[in-house]
Amino acid sequence: MNVLVTGGAGYIGSHAAKALIEAGHRVSIIDNLERGHAAAVHPQAHFQKLDLRETQALTGLLQQQAIDCVMHFAALAYVGESVQQPLRYYDNNTAGSLSLMKAMADANVPRMVFSSTCATYGIPQTMPIVETMPQRPINPYGWSKLFVERMLADQAAAVPEFAFTALRYFNVAGCAADGSLGEDHDPETHLIPVMLEAALGKREQVSIFGEDYPTPDGTCIRDYIHVEDLVDAHILAMEALKDGDARFYNLGIGRGYSVRQMVDAARAVTGVNFAITTGPRRPGDPPELYANADLIQRELGFKPRYTDIERIIETAWQWFKTHPDGYAATTR
Ligand code: UFG
Repeated sequence: MNVLVTGGAGYIGSHAAKALIEAGHRVSIIDNLERGHAAAVHPQAHFQKLDLRETQALTGLLQQQAIDCVMHFAALAYVGESVQQPLRYYDNNTAGSLSLMKAMADANVPRMVFSSTCATYGIPQTMPIVETMPQRPINPYGWSKLFVERMLADQAAAVPEFAFTALRYFNVAGCAADGSLGEDHDPETHLIPVMLEAALGKREQVSIFGEDYPTPDGTCIRDYIHVEDLVDAHILAMEALKDGDARFYNLGIGRGYSVRQMVDAARAVTGVNFAITTGPRRPGDPPELYANADLIQRELGFKPRYTDIERIIETAWQWFKTHPDGYAATTR
């Protein structure tokens, strides 16, 4: 298929482009390079520096590249930033997706696989999270994505040949096992990269954000899924789409690890006893988030290859060791 990957210079989008190309698909990438890295763009992909909000140019690109399906990753994804700058999130994530959907309608592109988030659930009453639970986001980031889910559902109801799958990600982690791609955020706030930077001596310590949560060891629990498993699920989702489909799946591995368990795992993988301190809770962090991932396993046959947290961290460690400055030293 001819697939447009939005945000293909970013962490997840770049891994998706690689997996698609390896699976024999033809890939076009757009990215505004605000947070993405030109060096992460796959050399075999057609690349255009374009913002989602440039509807006309997008329509032209979709037609010119005869796109069959869009994998839509391009988004801002910091919860805290979304609280500080809500309009920026609604503009980029929600209005950007609206512009993309208009361009798709104009160019008759009938398929989308959309990056949604478990942040659309807010603070669920019970664990694990199943897809039918109420969606009540607690921050603008979650809302900015939930609005897109709604627009997609309405469009699928109105246009018989349109179909989409929204994948609600849990915590995406790890890097390409062959070492070719990695994770490079500025600022970096995610737990695994922060720990690996500490192991490299780039940070003095890792602060655990709260040890007084109602969990067995008092620290927050999350469901970490390897980025290569995550992008494989996108390909399964794309290939399964039929006219009129409106599908929503949780995308996690279905088990949770606490921050303390993550620290132990990262210390074991790196062999570095990096320093930790206990800091205050980070506002907006739910105590526990992990998926019931049965639906995607049952309906799409998705089975994660990485179920061991140390193996996930190992793939990230390989990248961080060989790219201590991220993509800064990489040219393509
Ligand atoms: N944590 C620390 N110290 C750190 C960094 C993180 O203790 O220095 C903790 C957090 O409090 C959290 C866990 O480690 O309990 C994971 O934190 P991350 O920042 O790595 O990931 P989040 O769970 O906060 O964020 C993820 C996605 C977001 C998404 C969110 C939904 O990255 O895009 O889940 O709640 F919105």
